[in-house]
Amino acid sequence: MVFYATLQKTFCSRYVYLWLVAGATLTLLPFYKVTKVSTPKDIYGAALLDFYNNEYTEDITVLSPTIEDDILPLPYLFRTFAEMPTIEQQALLLCKGHTLDIGCGAGSHALWLTDNNQEVSIIDQSAGAITVSRKRIHTLSRKRMLKNNITDSIWNHTSQYDTLLLLMNGTGIFEQLSNVDNALQHLKAMLKPGGQILVDSSDLAFLFRDEEDGGIWQDASTDYYGEVTFSMQYKGETTPDFNWLYLDFELLKKYAQKNELCAELIVEGDHYDYLARLTIA
Ligand SMILES: C[S@@+](CC[C@H](N)C(=O)[O-])C[C@H]1O[C@@H](n2cnc3c(N)ncnc32)[C@H](O)[C@@H]1O
Repeated sequence: MVFYATLQKTFCSRYVYLWLVAGATLTLLPFYKVTKVSTPKDIYGAALLDFYNNEYTEDITVLSPTIEDDILPLPYLFRTFAEMPTIEQQALLLCKGHTLDIGCGAGSHALWLTDNNQEVSIIDQSAGAITVSRKRIHTLSRKRMLKNNITDSIWNHTSQYDTLLLLMNGTGIFEQLSNVDNALQHLKAMLKPGGQILVDSSDLAFLFRDEEDGGIWQDASTDYYGEVTFSMQYKGETTPDFNWLYLDFELLKKYAQKNELCAELIVEGDHYDYLARLTIA
């Protein structure tokens, strides 16, 4: 609880979060020419499965060398529509056609969409996340709208959709600024005609602002203050470090334009977070 209070103090909004992946570092985009080192243990998926199976005894600890360590409460990943921040609610209301929930986690967004008659597929590189999402949707959704469930990295997937949904700091999976062009090109190629990408993120400048002169402290080892390194700890196990990218809206817009996408600011959250829609220009 002390950590949770720290988190709220640091970020004010719930879960600007610091993201997490089940071994995200080791399965990087093919076009980055990074080879897989070993099969990482699915610590994140294990935590989701424990919660789903009523074996919840502890939360995930999120560690970072550059920002304060925090606690990720597992119940938050199982949130209902009413418990979601406004930017997520807005995103769900804007989904249309066949939606791919990218990095679906425990499937909370996909569950609401299927329950509200939307055709949905889910993808997550965590096998535990896909198992939990699939089971929740099959048991809790009153509709049979789940089309495909895919355990893989989005960067290995090429089918086309009407909506690509990336929530809970959706730009995180781009990992670092140098990957953004390739990531946007990949997502753009996955859009059906008239399709859209709905993605949320946060401007982390407030964490690094010098109170005296208003300048931003920049870690010399990174290109941008939104590039963060994390690892996760759960039940005595720790993931390898992984990179996670927070993109402020202006920078996202710049990259979108460069990649012939239109970026529209849909809504801002309570604390430097926002929802954007990207469409083909
Ligand atoms: C911050 S969590 C968000 C989970 C869910 N969207 C939510 O809002 O509760 C990020 C999710 O993305 C998944 N992920 C990370 N990198 C991925 C990738 N390259 N391809 C597919 N899933 C990925 C992680 O396993 C994790 O479930």
